[in-house]
Amino acid sequence: MAEDRPLNREEMLSILEWYRAAGVDIAVGEEPVDRFAQRPPPRVTPPPAPQAEPPAERAAPMLALGGDPGEARALASQAQTLDELQAILGAYDGCGLKLRATQLVFADGNPEAQIMLIGEAPGAEEDRQGKPFVGKSGQLLNRMLAAIGLDRSKVYIANTVPWRPPGNRAPTPEEIALCLPFLQRQVELVAPRIVVTLGGPAMQTVFQTTAGIIKMRGKWSPVSIGAHGVEAMPTLHPAYLLRNPPAKQQAWRDLLSLKMKMVELGLV
Ligand code: URA
Repeated sequence: MAEDRPLNREEMLSILEWYRAAGVDIAVGEEPVDRFAQRPPPRVTPPPAPQAEPPAERAAPMLALGGDPGEARALASQAQTLDELQAILGAYDGCGLKLRATQLVFADGNPEAQIMLIGEAPGAEEDRQGKPFVGKSGQLLNRMLAAIGLDRSKVYIANTVPWRPPGNRAPTPEEIALCLPFLQRQVELVAPRIVVTLGGPAMQTVFQTTAGIIKMRGKWSPVSIGAHGVEAMPTLHPAYLLRNPPAKQQAWRDLLSLKMKMVELGLV
C-alpha cells in the first residue's frame, strides 16, 4: 500500500505532467475536490402516489451534447467573406474545444490558392501561434510542398477543427460535426480546384467515409464540400511520416500525383 505522506516536489511535478498529458490544463476551482470521496445520496423509494389522476408527463432529460450543428450551419452560411467567417467562428461558443484552446487557428496560406490542404486539428505550437501546421509536422509539410514546387503562397491550409483538442487528443465525431459547417463554408469561400486531405480523420470528414487512410490515400475523386465541387485526394499526415519514415515513399507518390493533377487542370 502507498505510504500516506505529503508528495515531494518531484512527485507533484510528475503528477502535474501526467494531468497535462491527459488534457487537464485548466483549474476550475481554488480547492481540490475528492470526487471519489463523494458518494451518491442513498436511494429512498418514495411511497406510491395516490392514483386519483394520471401522472403528469415528464419533460425528456436534456442531453449535455454542447452545440447544435444546425446553429453552426446557420452561422457559417452568414459569412460572405473569409474575414467574416473567421469573426463568426471566433465568436462561436458552441464547440467545447474553444474553452481549452489558447486561440482560434483559422488558416494559413493564400486565400486565392487553387489548392487547399485540410489537416486534422491544431497541435501545441499551432495553438500558440494561431496558425495551422507551424510545428514539426508543419516543417515537414513545407519540405513536402517544396519538393513539387509549392509553398504557402500557393496553397491554403485549414483543419477539420480550428481549436487544439486538449492534450493533443483526436477531435471527437461530435466536435468535428460542429465545426464541419464552418470548414465547408471556408472551402466554398476559397473555392479551390483541388483539395488534399492530410491523415485519416481529415479524409473521413471530407470524403464522408469510414475507410482507412492506407487504403484510400493517393486516390482522386470528385467531392462536394458544402456547395463547392473539387477534385480531392487523401494523403498521409506529416505527423505519421515523422513516426514512420518509410511511409514517405507513398507520400512522395501522392505528391507526384498532385503535381500531375495540377498539370492536368492547367494550374502550372
Ligand atoms: N496537425 C494537424 O493536423 N494540423 C495542424 O495544424 C498541425 C498538426
